[in-house]
Amino acid sequence: MGNPLADWFLTNRGPLMNKWFHYFDIYDRHFARFRGRDIVMVEIGVYHGGSLGMWQSYFGPDAKLVGVDLNPRALKFAGAQVDILIGDQSDRGFLRELRARYPRIDVLLDDGGHAMHQQIATFEELFDAVAEDGVYMVEDTHTSYWPEFGGGLRAPGSFIEYAKRLADELNAWHVREWATTERSAFARSAWSLAFYDSIVAIEKRPKTAPAARLTGKLSFLALDE
Ligand SMILES: C[S@@+](CC[C@H](N)C(=O)[O-])C[C@H]1O[C@@H](n2cnc3c(N)ncnc32)[C@H](O)[C@@H]1O
Repeated sequence: MGNPLADWFLTNRGPLMNKWFHYFDIYDRHFARFRGRDIVMVEIGVYHGGSLGMWQSYFGPDAKLVGVDLNPRALKFAGAQVDILIGDQSDRGFLRELRARYPRIDVLLDDGGHAMHQQIATFEELFDAVAEDGVYMVEDTHTSYWPEFGGGLRAPGSFIEYAKRLADELNAWHVREWATTERSAFARSAWSLAFYDSIVAIEKRPKTAPAARLTGKLSFLALDE
């Protein structure tokens, strides 16, 4: 079966878009369950407005899209279904205002400036605003390997290194060095953390301590039987 986003992209004769082609499978894998629903999607990075058109077509008329960009020219893409906010994604005050205005975000896609401090500030301010069954996605995370964006292989401040530490949070209940009473908001709300080439995707779902169960009958009583 075809991918509706890739099909839309390949037949795009509207505003300019530039996408790594493998992103469409990743988008569809994580976003398909929101199609046709009255969701709120926040996209950091509007550029020529191409992706806003793609999301409208993909999610349908009940979705509210919120585009965020530094460049005031993005305001021309505002419409009945689309709000545009002008601001800097590394400005935590601006991000908190965004969060107050949209307290429930179902899908957040960070396709903004792609610098480490931008991706990390946006994640730290907006992850908790994503609904308990929502998705937080950061794209173009290959910039974590590029010094001009503040990255470099295993550079301590890169977004990829930051996200690797989130993997520890995801497993928080099994970390014996951590106090059992302290589980971070991430540990309690992140269901999965997926690394793809150039994309990090986090699916949310409320979490409590994992529980193991035994079912079935014993097959033997000792290892040497
Ligand atoms: C890759 S483009 C977005 C492409 C768009 N999502 C699409 O697929 O058509 C990145 C956009 O992020 C914006 N941007 C760069 N730095 C930013 C920042 N610090 N805060 C908000 N937007 C920023 C740029 O102005 C540019 O329009």
